[in-house]
Amino acid sequence: MDKIVIAGGQRLCGEVAISGAKNAALPILASSLLTEGWNTYRNIPSLMDIKTIGKLLANLGVEIEEGETFRVNASNIRKCEAPYDLVKTMRASILVLGPLVARMGKARVSLPGGCAIGARPVNLHIKALKELGAEVDLKDGYIEARARRLKGATIFFDISTVTGTENILMAACLADGTTILKNAAKEPEVVNLAQVLGAMGARISGAGTDVIRIDGVERLRPVEAEVIPDRIEAGTFMIATAMTGGDVRITGCLPQHLDALIAKLQEAGSEITPIGGGVRVAGGSKIRSVDIKTLPYPGFPTDLQAQMMAMMTIGGGLSVITETVFENRFMHTSELMRMGADIRIRGSRAIVKGIPVLRGARVMATDLRASASLILAGLVAEGRTELSRVYHIDRGYQEIEKKFSALGADIRREKA
Ligand code: UD1
Repeated sequence: MDKIVIAGGQRLCGEVAISGAKNAALPILASSLLTEGWNTYRNIPSLMDIKTIGKLLANLGVEIEEGETFRVNASNIRKCEAPYDLVKTMRASILVLGPLVARMGKARVSLPGGCAIGARPVNLHIKALKELGAEVDLKDGYIEARARRLKGATIFFDISTVTGTENILMAACLADGTTILKNAAKEPEVVNLAQVLGAMGARISGAGTDVIRIDGVERLRPVEAEVIPDRIEAGTFMIATAMTGGDVRITGCLPQHLDALIAKLQEAGSEITPIGGGVRVAGGSKIRSVDIKTLPYPGFPTDLQAQMMAMMTIGGGLSVITETVFENRFMHTSELMRMGADIRIRGSRAIVKGIPVLRGARVMATDLRASASLILAGLVAEGRTELSRVYHIDRGYQEIEKKFSALGADIRREKA
């Protein structure tokens, strides 16, 4: 298994270009199931999770051509099943459920199992699909859904769910009548999906607010569409720059998607300046400790919590980090503690007491964002850090070690 080896202590300087958003690309690729003919997508990142959804779509009979653009044709769907082997490697595979039922009238999708960051059920996806008139059974670990044609309905999500909103948004586009989604997720990735669906001919209003209205249509047409920049990748580079006291221009990103992070980095002593097509981050000479509470968008993203915790381990005081989106999303703390960090967990709170310097160590990635936090810790630690189970990071970051290395970090991948 590959590992990433870092010799800490370099300031990051220069310019880094951000890739397309994984979490927007996944539902957009799934939405191709709603159309017949070739869809063309730009800015799809080159990542393991994209390969996984590609495999899943190919398994359904979808044709895929990967080149400068990503072309997808779902004219001939042979199967309506997402098998366990694929779903277990990527929970977002659940995103084919809504489109398959809407277009094909049936779907069989493996239930995602538990995962490192909590139970993460899909009950709200299932409940909403039932409210659209689908018959849904759980059999042999699979969700089996069928409906001759879905029927518009008013759906209230108990909890704001990103992929749940996306799944039902896609399904409702081909339903008979009007669907209203209440307490819908407002994440930019939901808005990007709604734009793509709109270009396909769907009638959607309110995306980006917590009430989305969808007037169902009979069919949708293929599109040419572009994926938004990855705000979590951009945020990870911003935090890394702040931690190393560096000065980096982060290009190809949309700072308006990062307001919560920008406010926190400024509070912590960094200077953030908008530049054409991105932001410049200049880290301060000292890091002030700040408190963080994760929330659905536009609150502080849970997908940047681990990276921000890495930064707080070398803050000047005490930081309280409260995770409200996922239970059990503190797996990175024990690894950060192996590098000397002073962290206490109290339920959904982590109390981080800043120390002057972390020490390099052998650490293990437990999930995607946890691995990013350990790389960030390695960049500022004294000595050598060796991160194993690198496959987690490859799910969501395109060539992370090359991008950090181009900014002056001493980081390399060692092949097993
Ligand atoms: C998406 C993102 C993930 C991010 C998360 C929160 C993708 C592919 N993944 O995950 O990177 O960390 O949003 O911003 O976009 N819940 C239920 N029942 C459900 C669905 C969700 O109880 O049926 C709960 C979850 O356990 C969690 C909360 O709702 O506590 C939010 O989860 P959700 O927004 O659904 O996360 P994902 O869409 O899986």
